[in-house]
Amino acid sequence: MTEAIANTYNYRVVRQFSIMTIVWGVIGMLVGVFIAAQLIWPELDFGIAWLSYGRLRPLHTNAVIFAFGGSALIGASYFVVQRTSNVRLFCDKLAAFTFWGYQAVIVLAVITLPLGITRGKEYAELEWPIALLLAVVWVAYAVVFFGTLAKRKIEHIYVANWFFGAFIVAVAMLHVVNAAALPVSLTKSYSAYAGVQDAMVQWWYGHNAVGFFLTAGFLGMMYYFIPKQINRPIYSYRLSIVHFWALVFTYMWAGPHHLHYTSLPDWAQSVGMVFSLILLAPSWGGMINGIMTLSGAWSTLRSDPILRFLIVSLSFYGMSTFEGPMMSIKTVNALSHYTDWNIAHVHSGALGWVGFITIGSMYYLLPRLFGRTEMYSKKLIEVHFWVATIGVVLYISSMWIAGVMQGLMWRAVNVDGTLTYTFIESVKATFPYYVIRLGGGILYLTGMIVMAYNVAKTIAAGKAEEAIIPALSPSTAHA
Ligand code: HEM
Ligand code: HEM
Repeated sequence: MTEAIANTYNYRVVRQFSIMTIVWGVIGMLVGVFIAAQLIWPELDFGIAWLSYGRLRPLHTNAVIFAFGGSALIGASYFVVQRTSNVRLFCDKLAAFTFWGYQAVIVLAVITLPLGITRGKEYAELEWPIALLLAVVWVAYAVVFFGTLAKRKIEHIYVANWFFGAFIVAVAMLHVVNAAALPVSLTKSYSAYAGVQDAMVQWWYGHNAVGFFLTAGFLGMMYYFIPKQINRPIYSYRLSIVHFWALVFTYMWAGPHHLHYTSLPDWAQSVGMVFSLILLAPSWGGMINGIMTLSGAWSTLRSDPILRFLIVSLSFYGMSTFEGPMMSIKTVNALSHYTDWNIAHVHSGALGWVGFITIGSMYYLLPRLFGRTEMYSKKLIEVHFWVATIGVVLYISSMWIAGVMQGLMWRAVNVDGTLTYTFIESVKATFPYYVIRLGGGILYLTGMIVMAYNVAKTIAAGKAEEAIIPALSPSTAHA
């Protein structure tokens, strides 16, 4: 590496991941809108197998979680670890490999899932050769990230890196354990586990995918981009450390709440419930820490739409991490399980928390990666914020009402003990709520398209430049 390159940050790989975040966001949400429409008009599969709901639904979840969310997380972590360590990323070639390798995994998912090639485990659908490739890419990612930390010029490891680090280590462990399988052909394998053990491993994985992929990683983003956008330090550094350890410890035990009233031993279900209730505390620790960073500067919210995305994301984080523990109480779960209440909970976390924190962070990051200080249009960010917010509210409130209604209809009994409603009656009653949800989804997608336009204009007006690593002085510690 020449001296000139060694003195700059590696923004190239961050740019690549950031742009793909927007691309996959639009594609994944488009598929979300399409399957939302299919739930209203099932004939939208046009009789074509690869357009069927059962195949497109996992395509949606993989595209939004792993392609949109994953690209944002890897890109942001590469940016943050360099800036807070005052060094260039460890090994440019390996970093480039993580980009191309990760995108290859996503493209393979986009091809195989509609073809019906799947392991049938939720959020772990990809068949063994792709799962293997993902494991290799993930190890390379870990080497680049921790390698950068190892050669850091700043002694202190900023808390955002703790969260990214936990996300990387936990996801590696979850993926390797849950993907263990016996291949019988290139496109078919059988899980290494059977029966209720298989279910428990799957939901240990599934819940921690929420905890470490959809939560810890994005908290890492929160801990860097919120203080940067407000231009003041995080509210309490001590709280960030306490809630970090409490969060990573507690999440690991909460998985059984996905298996209430199943053949999983009752005591294991209760352990899951208790740890889920405890989880409220560290989750709210993070939310409070982020929101209180704004303390004394609330008025900036009025003039800064990027900050609004970041702060509103925390409100949704607080909401979904209050709702989750409530839903883990067995008697509440008896009502919510199998209903659209789950879908409301998922999307208040996914659209409100994951979506908004990503969008806010990308609005901060993207212009800086192209030698500019601001996005092309602040007005369009404003439009995006309102369109997306109305979209989320329509999506989750319609699904909450639908979910509670379904739960109540399914359990209603007549005096003679027979069921009051047939199942199809509950499906019919849900119809108007599915229409409202579709409207909400279209609004949210529209916001993403507005963002894509704004980003394209920003890139066109900017220049892909590598930033010089500043000379070290104690005050640049968290540059
Ligand atoms: C325009 C935006 C979106 C729309 C219209 C949408 C729509 C949908 C629909 C219709 C389903 C299937 C629901 C069912 O089976 O009853 C679904 C499932 C799901 N979506 Fe989205 N979605 C959107 C964005 C997102 C985002 C950004 C994420 C994550 C970051 C996400 C994560 C999920 C997950 C995890 C599920 C599976 C939920 C479960 O199995 O309980 N979605 N989505
Ligand atoms: C304290 C934190 C949380 C707890 C205790 C919690 C608890 C729960 C519970 C009890 C369920 C329902 C399980 C069932 O009946 O099948 C659930 C489902 C789900 N939650 Fe959470 N939740 C939390 C936070 C979040 C957040 C922040 C997100 C997203 C960013 C999220 C994403 C999901 C997803 C994707 C599912 C659906 C899983 C599936 O069946 O496919 N959760 N959660």
